[in-house]
Amino acid sequence: MPDSDDTLTYARHLQLDRLLSCQERQSEKHGRPAHDEMLFIIVHQVYELWFKEVLFDLARVQEIFSGSEVDDASLGQAVHLLGRIVEIQKLLIQQFDVLETMTPLDFLDFRDLLFPASGFQSLQFRLLETRLGLEREQRLAFDERPFDARLSAEDRKALKAAEAEPSLTALVEAWLQRTPFVSVAGYDFREVYRQAVSDMLESEAEVVRRNPSLGEAEIRAELESLKAARARFDSIFDEDEHRQLRESGVWHLSWQALQAALFINLYRDEPALQLPFRLLSALMDIDSNMTSWRYRHALMVQRMIGRKVGTGGSSGPEYLRRTAERHRVFADLFALSTFFIPRSRLPQLPEEIRQAMGYRYRGGGL
Ligand code: HEM
Repeated sequence: MPDSDDTLTYARHLQLDRLLSCQERQSEKHGRPAHDEMLFIIVHQVYELWFKEVLFDLARVQEIFSGSEVDDASLGQAVHLLGRIVEIQKLLIQQFDVLETMTPLDFLDFRDLLFPASGFQSLQFRLLETRLGLEREQRLAFDERPFDARLSAEDRKALKAAEAEPSLTALVEAWLQRTPFVSVAGYDFREVYRQAVSDMLESEAEVVRRNPSLGEAEIRAELESLKAARARFDSIFDEDEHRQLRESGVWHLSWQALQAALFINLYRDEPALQLPFRLLSALMDIDSNMTSWRYRHALMVQRMIGRKVGTGGSSGPEYLRRTAERHRVFADLFALSTFFIPRSRLPQLPEEIRQAMGYRYRGGGL
């Protein structure tokens, strides 16, 4: 076929002329070419490309959850796309291995030319955090300025627009709140399960009290921690307690959403709950991978710059490590595991509900 100007080719489709001509080394511009700056640029660009794909998939997932009802096919698609995000995240974590073939001395060949640029200014990373559900108030500040002060005015505007939209957390929370089966005529999951967990915590306390290898202080500490677990557990079922703990930042999800998430986890073997369960698992995988990425990045930064301050002005590895602990989005789903009981102690669902759930799950009622 003749290669006329509008014939699609591999290079045209991928716009390789543009893609491959945007790797400009600062070190070359300054007349002291540093070999590894090419790797540094390409690795960052590849990250940004993957961020783009993740944001693209996330947009579709958000769209699916923004309706008043999520049908099974759409829920399946959402779970599938979240699974893709999880796989991409694994690559993102692995990529640091490639960047680490640049040694700290190689990095020093051009690091001084990068000030004040920093990954801290990655708009796509901030969009990702925000659209997943990380809130402004939750963010760790490393100076007096708001976290987005280092972004350009245009990027700040884009971020504000994302903040104004419901995040994935907010959308999933609304969907969870519509979960049927949690409380229907003649069956109240709350009451039944509350009793089962209460019995379990009591028997755990008994095991602690009777443990001959524990000293008095250890027993007291263990019992205190069981008491705290019970208070947190009560808050899942007691609306007032939940409100207080939510205000103090212990829980992020609403009272009804937590109950629904608990219900889905416990009864996930019921056919209608399998997809919702996979959805919750994917959200936890995403949170877990974001956290691993943050730790991995912090470790790499420590290897590269030791205790120097970052080019963006933070305390470097220390700041990054603390964000890994604090910037969690779906931590509530992890915390719920405290209140799981063994299958053998799990109250049976009434037959009528099992029958109804055998067919399908529809956010919006039986
Ligand atoms: C030699 C390699 C790297 C070093 C030394 C480094 C260093 C740092 C430092 C010190 C910070 C804290 C902000 C500051 O003070 O600048 C930071 C933040 C950040 N970096 Fe890197 N980084 C490197 C590679 C990367 C790569 C490959 C990415 C991928 C996109 C990246 C993305 C980010 C992001 C998103 C933040 C903001 C994190 C947050 O605030 O939670 N960095 N980096």
